[in-house]
Amino acid sequence: MSKAESDNHRQRLQALNADVQSRSLRGAWQRERGNPKQEEIRPALWRWSEMAPLLLEAGELAPLDDVMRMRTLHMTNSPDTIPLGAARTFAAMLQHVNGGEVTDSHRHTATSVYLAIQGSGIYTTAEGEQQFMEPGDLLTQPSWTWHGTTNTGSAPAIWFTAMDSSLMQYLDNWENERYPNSFSEPITKPDGFHLSRLGALRAPGALAGPGPFPVKYRWADTYRTLQELAAAEVRDPFDGIVLEYRNPQDGGPTTATMSCRMQLLRPGEATQAHRHTGNTVYHVVRGQGMTKIGRSRALETDLAWSERDCFNVPTWHWHSLVNTAAEDVILFSVSDRPLFDALRLYREES
Ligand SMILES: [Fe+2]
Ligand SMILES: [Fe+2]
Repeated sequence: MSKAESDNHRQRLQALNADVQSRSLRGAWQRERGNPKQEEIRPALWRWSEMAPLLLEAGELAPLDDVMRMRTLHMTNSPDTIPLGAARTFAAMLQHVNGGEVTDSHRHTATSVYLAIQGSGIYTTAEGEQQFMEPGDLLTQPSWTWHGTTNTGSAPAIWFTAMDSSLMQYLDNWENERYPNSFSEPITKPDGFHLSRLGALRAPGALAGPGPFPVKYRWADTYRTLQELAAAEVRDPFDGIVLEYRNPQDGGPTTATMSCRMQLLRPGEATQAHRHTGNTVYHVVRGQGMTKIGRSRALETDLAWSERDCFNVPTWHWHSLVNTAAEDVILFSVSDRPLFDALRLYREES
């Protein structure tokens, strides 16, 4: 190509690109030199010893108001750039309410789950059910169900929340509504109401509407079942003794978008390494240990954790969980596996 031809080609291409762009279009030939690098969620550890003091101080300095209706501390990743969450499809956070504080009743398209960590005399009103939150209890708030929390105790309450808000935003499906004509939804149903009407024995028509309904799983039941399985040596090579929180209504995952689990590792136990699709965030309920994790089977990173810390296992990372202490480890986790199952993208390798 002569110089004149080459200049003419460049000018025409520039004009074409400007025209394409002005019409809100983009041609594949317009790519910048080198493809933009996709930010990746990396394995990370969030320490309770760092999170809790920050949250408690915020409890003194930042009152709940119309702008900040929930006092939450989000776990983020890739701090050098626009922070990603602990997982791409759901946010993981700690939530805090002072003694005497109330969060307004509201509902949103996003689904959330709460795992109670500390506090007493605290309850969430979920579709009218007064669900008290003892440490270890798991509460679900499926999409578009009413909820609001009251701390009748004197001490601050803290719980772990996972919420698929980032997925809702990605789908352009984020809506939020406050309870009409009242700050708090009235309590009309006793603690345990929904779960007791969704089990193997249930009265037909006892619940209004098709659901899904907000459910509370009691820690006492979870812990007893874990102990029974431990006594019977019902063990998974990759997860130790593990329970899934199933939706009692249909036996499916905890919610449409998130699957919750509780697992127990015996003193000194190390699970076999494996990798699978899906993104998981863990909260250490009890004990001390380590996650050996990496892109390769060499498991190049060690995340050493203790009670109440949180860590993540991003998709397709090799990982092994190790109990490094002399007492049982109990781990709670949330993953977006239901999405991978629904899209037939779940894969596992060991
Ligand atoms: Fe909410
Ligand atoms: Fe795993």
